Amino acid sequence: MIALSDIETTLAAFPRVALGHWPTPLEPTDRLRAERGGPRIWLKRDDCSGLAFGGDKTRKLEFLLGEALTEGATGVMTFGALQSNHCRQTAAASARVGLPCHLILTTQVERDDAHYVGSGNRLLDDVLGATVHVVADNDAALVRCGELLDADPGLAVIGPGGSSPVGTLGYVAAGIELAAQLRDAAVDPAAVVVASSTGGTAAGLLVGLEMGGAPAPVRAVAVYADAATTRATIEYLAAETASLVSAPAPNLARLTVDDSMLGAGYGIETDASHAAVDVLARTEGVLLDPVYTAKAFAFLLASSEIDTDDDVVFVHTGGQTGLFAYADAFASTS
Ligand SMILES: Cc1ncc(COP(=O)(O)O)c(C=O)c1O
Repeated sequence: MIALSDIETTLAAFPRVALGHWPTPLEPTDRLRAERGGPRIWLKRDDCSGLAFGGDKTRKLEFLLGEALTEGATGVMTFGALQSNHCRQTAAASARVGLPCHLILTTQVERDDAHYVGSGNRLLDDVLGATVHVVADNDAALVRCGELLDADPGLAVIGPGGSSPVGTLGYVAAGIELAAQLRDAAVDPAAVVVASSTGGTAAGLLVGLEMGGAPAPVRAVAVYADAATTRATIEYLAAETASLVSAPAPNLARLTVDDSMLGAGYGIETDASHAAVDVLARTEGVLLDPVYTAKAFAFLLASSEIDTDDDVVFVHTGGQTGLFAYADAFASTS
């Protein structure tokens, strides 16, 4: 464990803007356990990060926009699917710091009902004042990115999910924050479970938990790509980010990546993810999102590797605004 004052000095060396409400709560789920049995699940409530319905991107954007402002950016540009939580949070963060925001959104998820196309995050992007460019796929997104940069070379380009090493610093801070909460609550979790797509959230947690002295195993639940691809991204980001903060490379044996909940692919719900949304909502009054946390929580509920006597932390990374976009899938449940 690195001394807290050293960690604070290290992170303070990076430009950062205050966007969130920290620390986010760490909460037990007693009713869920009484109903279903299983391990003691603690929710790390990053869905309550405080910026425009919250979520994991708030932490990354504190560092990414800190960097953009320091470099004198004239605006911000980023990418995602039509219902991207990252894009909604980037629009909000840009508004907060007074920078124009361009969102390049792809129609890669095969849904075209009115809720998906016009509600949820897509609606909020408009409310938050972003300029939205809808394109077919990642290739078209790169072309549009080039055109926008030609028109304004001062735009700061934030990659998908904000998962650069600088963005990942946000989850180093989260891991350190969680380590302190676990110490205070005298909880030694058998695992920290988190949804993973662009990898920065899981990678930052790996580094931060170790720096904070709580090197729990991290179980990343792949919701975008297969386990091998997701693992390679997390490993790369963990190594780069650790070196950015001059920390030792994290012990990668602590990382497992599982893609058994992927189903038919990114953005497509499964019976298990749907059931996970229902059970947490109806026992704890906590909403999951349909794309990320529902699949990660479904993994946790199905996992036979975690003992019923164990504590386990589920990092709730937000995204519930997506439920409105998936109204067709959720409205009919009883
Ligand atoms: C709600 C939610 N959870 C988890 C993730 C995954 O985080 P990462 O892209 O850092 O792997 C995202 C990414 O957009 C998200 O929106």
